[in-house]
Amino acid sequence: MKVLFSEEQLQHGISRMAAAINERFGSEPLTVICVMTGSLILVADLIRQLDMPVKLGSVHASSYKGKTSRSNLQLDASMLPNVKGTNVLIVDDIFDTGHTLNAVHQHIESLEAASVETAVLLYKHGRQELDFKVNFVGFEIPDEFVVGYGLDYQGIYRNLPYVGVLESHDLDPDE
Ligand code: IMP
Ligand code: MG
Repeated sequence: MKVLFSEEQLQHGISRMAAAINERFGSEPLTVICVMTGSLILVADLIRQLDMPVKLGSVHASSYKGKTSRSNLQLDASMLPNVKGTNVLIVDDIFDTGHTLNAVHQHIESLEAASVETAVLLYKHGRQELDFKVNFVGFEIPDEFVVGYGLDYQGIYRNLPYVGVLESHDLDPDE
């Protein structure tokens, strides 16, 4: 495992994002939507640096990306609070192809939120399949598979306090 962002670097990036979000929304109430499971740790750190009144909600998004199957996004929005007429910030761990954030964004818009903006810890270059503008980005990264600080590979590594790049000997040879 190669460390890409240390704990300290992550906290600096999150503080920068929080400052930009505080500046954007001022004292207006904000509903933060955690895209589970990957953004759990980011959201916990981020919202503690927000100054406005914050409501917290979550959606569960998962996609199955195998060699044989196409990416198939499943969205469970049953845990959402009422967002009608509120300012919403959707928070995800990483922006890759863009399909996850786009789907969550469309869903929240359909619920008549007053505004819908997005924040991600990591923005992966060269992978975007949709024309979608993320409002707040922690770090831009090259096209490498990263884990830690919420991000997983086959369900593990989410608990690492840093973000790392998996090396070939960490990967499952059958995938
Ligand atoms: P998108 O829908 O392609 O933008 O993918 C976003 C989702 O794919 C993220 O919320 C992650 O769960 C997952 N993902 C994409 N790239 C990585 C990665 O490098 N490591 C771990 N998970 C990733
Ligand atoms: Mg995810």
